[in-house]
Amino acid sequence: MNIGIIGTGYVGLVTGACFAAKDNTVVCMDSATDKIDTLQRGVIPFSEPELATLVQSNIAQNRLTFTTSLPSVVRHAEILFIAAGTPASLDRAADMSSIDNIIAQLAHIGDMGQKVIVMKSTVPMGTTYKISQQLRHDYVASNPEFLREGRAVHDFFAPDRIVIGADNPSVATTLARLYAPFLEGDAQLFQVSILSAELSKYAANAMLAVRISFANELAHLCEAYGASFAEVKAVMGSDMRIGHQFLSCGIGYGGSCFPKDMHAIIHLARAVEQEMSICSAAQRVNDRQIDRFVHRIRNYFADGLKNKRIAVWGVAFKPGTDDTRSSPSVAIMRQLLDEKAMVVAHDPVAFAHSSGDPITQHITVATSAYDACVDADALLIHTEWDEYRDMDMARVRNMMRRPVIFDGRNLYREKSTALDGFDYFCIGEPIAAECSHTASREPT
Ligand code: UGA
Repeated sequence: MNIGIIGTGYVGLVTGACFAAKDNTVVCMDSATDKIDTLQRGVIPFSEPELATLVQSNIAQNRLTFTTSLPSVVRHAEILFIAAGTPASLDRAADMSSIDNIIAQLAHIGDMGQKVIVMKSTVPMGTTYKISQQLRHDYVASNPEFLREGRAVHDFFAPDRIVIGADNPSVATTLARLYAPFLEGDAQLFQVSILSAELSKYAANAMLAVRISFANELAHLCEAYGASFAEVKAVMGSDMRIGHQFLSCGIGYGGSCFPKDMHAIIHLARAVEQEMSICSAAQRVNDRQIDRFVHRIRNYFADGLKNKRIAVWGVAFKPGTDDTRSSPSVAIMRQLLDEKAMVVAHDPVAFAHSSGDPITQHITVATSAYDACVDADALLIHTEWDEYRDMDMARVRNMMRRPVIFDGRNLYREKSTALDGFDYFCIGEPIAAECSHTASREPT
């Protein structure tokens, strides 16, 4: 089929490349000229495993091309996906300006015939209908994505589910045909109403975020009572109804999706005089994780954080991505900088692209995880990259001015021999056990 994609961010680019890989002819459009120039050369402007190879091979086979021209992507497409960003906005459920702009331009182009227009972005309920009205076009659908950054290509080829929200049966049939090659494994196809499709995306992300905040609150209860969160989680997760996933405690959730979608679902509820009170609470718990972590570090030093040299391992919001948007690591570093600490951070990929977080102007970027630790007064672990799991900790200890680790992802929780000579603090474990490696000042 002839596919057009408007927007070449994570979602648009992965969608375009994966459809091309299944013998569709795909044109991806973006108004950012420099981005399109780079993509035409097969260079991906962010880090996503497998994506560059996929894009390059499909360009080579003439199944994937890029353009800055909206009329030409519209001309090409039988099915036109809108995959523009919908970041959080302060006063609306989501910042819809990019989408509003695209729709205005589509309206200007005129009659779309029987082209199917598909909303791929995460949008407030009712958006797809609104677009249908604005364009006076009945061939519309909502088709939310559930890709995880760092696993996006894998998730696209082996999805848990495909959601097609369409009220027009011919639209639903066309999209089911397009997705048929992706439904060969265990994936379920859900053909639902447009509004249900839009809401299901927010619901899924909110549920996962709520689980994480529940885990984080429970971790504090464990600390207060001297129980082990790891043990409690193992027992709790063994219940088939609960399961083990998305119950890891730490410095909280971040990224371009959970924080903004939690914000959005709370706003969307208020707009119809409802309340998502559990989501509001989960959001507060998540914000508090950062404060509690910094509080613990601050309390460790009798003379405060001023001029302390703090090593940080991990800046991305999770491993497998260079994305630092709403990263808990960045929020923690900001607080440390506010207290006049000196931050030396390492991340295997987050600093690779020039679009790195503005925080890089205020910190020192270390070229290796070991380098970050030279003369450090403390080491903070913020992202659970694999390369941080098996470091030579004796070497790290000898490099540091003061051997103390604040492990925000519980990476070294079970590696007590590697921690000889360190003061070690993780999350959700009895403080006494954490401090057993050396006598240390008790954090509050
Ligand atoms: C999330 C969803 O998992 C995807 O299904 C969805 O498609 C995507 O948002 C989106 O809306 O586009 P993603 O943002 O890539 O995907 O990241 P996740 O893997 O879900 O992790 C989110 C955050 O939660 C990370 O900061 C991670 O460290 C944190 N997390 C995750 C925890 O703190 N504890 C856990 O147990 C799991």
